Amino acid sequence: MLAAITSKTKLIFVANPNNPTGSFLTGKEIADFLGAVPQHIVVVLDEAYNEYLPAEQQYDAIAMVRQYPHLLVSRSFSKAYGLAGLRLGYSVAQPELTDLLNRIRQPFNVNTLAQAAAIAALFDQEFLDQGATLNRQGYQQLTTAFTQMGLHYLPSSGNFILVQVGADDGAGARVNLALLKQGVIVRPVANYGLPKWLRVSIGLPAENAAFLSALEKSLAPLHPHA
Ligand SMILES: Cc1ncc(COP(=O)(O)O)c(C=O)c1O
Repeated sequence: MLAAITSKTKLIFVANPNNPTGSFLTGKEIADFLGAVPQHIVVVLDEAYNEYLPAEQQYDAIAMVRQYPHLLVSRSFSKAYGLAGLRLGYSVAQPELTDLLNRIRQPFNVNTLAQAAAIAALFDQEFLDQGATLNRQGYQQLTTAFTQMGLHYLPSSGNFILVQVGADDGAGARVNLALLKQGVIVRPVANYGLPKWLRVSIGLPAENAAFLSALEKSLAPLHPHA
């Protein structure tokens, strides 16, 4: 991304963990990047999946905001907090940047009930811990099965996994359709240039099992002798 900067670059988005790959940059990698990006270019660090990170991977993004006036950190209540239906998130930046955002944001963009729920959610550490634990268990359940099925997947720090469901460029769409017919909805990612892959969200143990069983049936026609 550093190498791609030109005189026209104004804004850089970095999602960490990234969607749909689930890949993760360490705090040091982020800090090094911020130090190298010229300060007239704004860096948005999208931390929508931050709360799923284990303690040893957490880094202090707020300290980075204090250090870098060209950094804006954004978070969401849609993921680990389970409040996607409330349509609520927040960002943290130095006053010069938040002032710019305030000038163009829509008035009344977050309703007061959503704000009340979010404040309560911020104090509900037990719910976050439970979600993170379930997520880690689900990750084990799914990746163990992928390995047994001989499917290539990318290590993920989010609440989803990118799995390669075939060798040809029609694989993602074909397996997605077969899954849909069994009532299982995953995310095709051909629009990210990944036509052989599907992104599956990690669910509850029974949901993961239902997905795996549907996936096995969806792949079966490709392996008639299995
Ligand atoms: C990386 C990333 N950022 C932000 C969002 C936005 O979530 P929301 O608009 O629900 O807060 C998503 C949702 O999929 C995401 O994957």
